[in-house]
Amino acid sequence: MNVSVFRYDPSEDSTPSFEMNEVPHRERMTVLEVLKYIYDNDTPIAFRYSYSIKACDSSAIKMNQKPVLTCKGKAQPVMTLEPLRVLPVVKDLVIDFDVYTEQRAKSRSFVEHLQGPPPLFPKNPLSTIPTLIPSSSAVKTSARKGLTCVLGK
Ligand code: FES
Repeated sequence: MNVSVFRYDPSEDSTPSFEMNEVPHRERMTVLEVLKYIYDNDTPIAFRYSYSIKACDSSAIKMNQKPVLTCKGKAQPVMTLEPLRVLPVVKDLVIDFDVYTEQRAKSRSFVEHLQGPPPLFPKNPLSTIPTLIPSSSAVKTSARKGLTCVLGK
């Protein structure tokens, strides 16, 4: 496989570049496995992942111009891998999640119970469904900003 990987260390490089890597193809190889191969056999590269559980969002990058979770994305014969551009690049494929984490912390839960917590054994289970609040567009906009997906969708 021909894999072009975005390389950039803001503390050393004035501009980003792309580095070509040859990676042997394996059946059902994920993008994360490709990155691990490059890291182990070629050049150290900065990328982020958690436990390959396909749910934490930490492995999100762009593959051939489309957002993908590296632990879920299927490797292609020709790939260009680069960081998501929705947040600043820390190094190579790693982006700064601090802004995202701060926005999430600031956002209020958009769905709340208006009359306190629901009863443990309700007579009418439908009565425990949370009520959507508030109707103010300013608060809705604020909530949307806080919940902006890191994949840029
Ligand atoms: S490693 Fe968590 S989503 Fe990929």
